[in-house]
Amino acid sequence: MTITLERPRIGVDLGEKKIIPDANELVLDGGFSVPETNAFGQTFRDYNAESDRKKTVEEFYRTNHLHQSYAFVKRMREEYGKLNRVEMSIWESIELLNEFVDDSDPDLDEPQIEHLLQTAEAIRKDYPNEDWLHLTGLIHDLGKVLLHPSFGELPQWAVVGDTFPVGCAFDESNVHHKFFEGNSDYHNPKFNTKYGVYSEGCGLENVLMSWGHDDYMYLVAKENKTTLPSAALFIIRYHSFYPLHRFGAYSYLMNEEDKENLKWLHVFNKYDLYSKSKVRIDVEKVKPYYLSLIEKYFPAKLKW
Ligand SMILES: [Fe+2]
Ligand SMILES: [Fe+2]
Repeated sequence: MTITLERPRIGVDLGEKKIIPDANELVLDGGFSVPETNAFGQTFRDYNAESDRKKTVEEFYRTNHLHQSYAFVKRMREEYGKLNRVEMSIWESIELLNEFVDDSDPDLDEPQIEHLLQTAEAIRKDYPNEDWLHLTGLIHDLGKVLLHPSFGELPQWAVVGDTFPVGCAFDESNVHHKFFEGNSDYHNPKFNTKYGVYSEGCGLENVLMSWGHDDYMYLVAKENKTTLPSAALFIIRYHSFYPLHRFGAYSYLMNEEDKENLKWLHVFNKYDLYSKSKVRIDVEKVKPYYLSLIEKYFPAKLKW
């Protein structure tokens, strides 16, 4: 099936809600062919596949679901929203990330820089004119610097994994849903109804998401006044929100702009997920191109 979608406006003011139609429509299927198995020979995101990583991933979600409560997220947002820890360029943060492997991911055990460049390069191949989307691919996971001592050295459960709203009932489509029973919000009548503290169509921007690299990088990009379009910020904040973009859960919290941006997230997700492989990218060869994009969309050093 082919779905067309509007090209987002570059440099759009985030406060501006207008979506201006553009005659230049894009084709959703950019020609990327989806591989059948991950680097371990299993289907992607198979949380039941027997592998050395299965136990690590399961233990990860047990801890994640136990601790990600409304109060916890509020506290983390306030703390990290100050952006008073480090001043660092985008490329410096990429190099910092290179030391880590993501425990929550059943499909990848390569250093992060490989994943960032594989994602960005796969998008670039299929969407050569959407440079904002190439850069989004490169930076979407940079919030994982939270694992580093200079950023508070947060445990993996507070940095990676699928994300979900807090402040309303945990949808059953969340991976390892059973582990939410240990979460204090699960038993709190203020938070355990369909809408909880939210209302229909309130807009995802007004919804607290479980804390991790997605929301952190969103805050960093937004507060540093990037000129990336709102679709890029949407992708960054919700790229791990699988209950929404895979299963359509929580869609009643979306407003019209969210619905538009979700189309781009669907495009992006295919590359985020399926470009993970053992094929190495020549970093030095592609670096100048990405430095030029960083210069364009993040002209100054970033506050983190
Ligand atoms: Fe991610
Ligand atoms: Fe990713």
